[in-house]
Amino acid sequence: MRVAHSRAELAETIARLPGALALAPTMGALHDGHLALIAAARRSADSVLVTVFVNPLQFGPTEDLAAYPRSLDADLAACARAGADAVWAPAVADVYPDGEPTVRVDPGPLGSELEGSSRPGHFSGALTVVARLCNLIRPALAVFGEKDYQQLVLIRRMAADLELGVAVAGVPTVREPDGLALSSRNVYLSADDRVRARSLARALRAGRAAAPGGAAAVLAAAAAELAGLDVDYLELRDPELGPPPRRGPARLLVAARVGRARLIDNTEVTLAP
Ligand code: PAF
Repeated sequence: MRVAHSRAELAETIARLPGALALAPTMGALHDGHLALIAAARRSADSVLVTVFVNPLQFGPTEDLAAYPRSLDADLAACARAGADAVWAPAVADVYPDGEPTVRVDPGPLGSELEGSSRPGHFSGALTVVARLCNLIRPALAVFGEKDYQQLVLIRRMAADLELGVAVAGVPTVREPDGLALSSRNVYLSADDRVRARSLARALRAGRAAAPGGAAAVLAAAAAELAGLDVDYLELRDPELGPPPRRGPARLLVAARVGRARLIDNTEVTLAP
């Protein structure tokens, strides 16, 4: 597995990767959810490049940029085990050699809903770095976790709206045995928080089970499991994150603060047959 840091090393690395290239962008602190991204990329392309970059643009001034877990040596070992062909682990100055870009991707109205309502600027920062990575690396395919469902929807939309020339694939969320979605931010949970954090996945399961009863039943069943948690939102939307349909496929999304961590999760539900 080749490891690149500078832009020159990246260019040299890409030149040596054969066939169709899949990109798995990550912020490091890799867990099994990321390894599932790499495995999905592996299945769909000839070569797989993973980026490990904590993108300052997508963190708000009071968010956890400085504290965000960083573990490059372990990440490189995990990428090699998962079958990645190459990793680009740049410094901030390699990605933004001219300083932070003043021209950024506008995520449109969905960018200020759900996650965007408590994280202003987050999606603009995330989309901007994904666009930049795609332009630098020119992959045929880029893979993203369904755990960050709103990000996935927005990246798909950006790829279409800006004709980025990259196919975007979503990869199902990987969970702990008790249902907690894997997240690099789970390291912020104390033992007590970890127990309370189960409620998110429980709420999604309860919502899914109530789906034959329609939207109101889904929201009521899910909310009952979240009692006592500091819930940021619990919403039912259509799969593109527009208003919920009366029946058929929909997405149930939740965000809550548990101790120091802000956790998000989501699931597909099928409303009333
Ligand atoms: O989902 C993430 O880890 C990040 O938002 C991404 C897509 C790597 C962009 O920094």
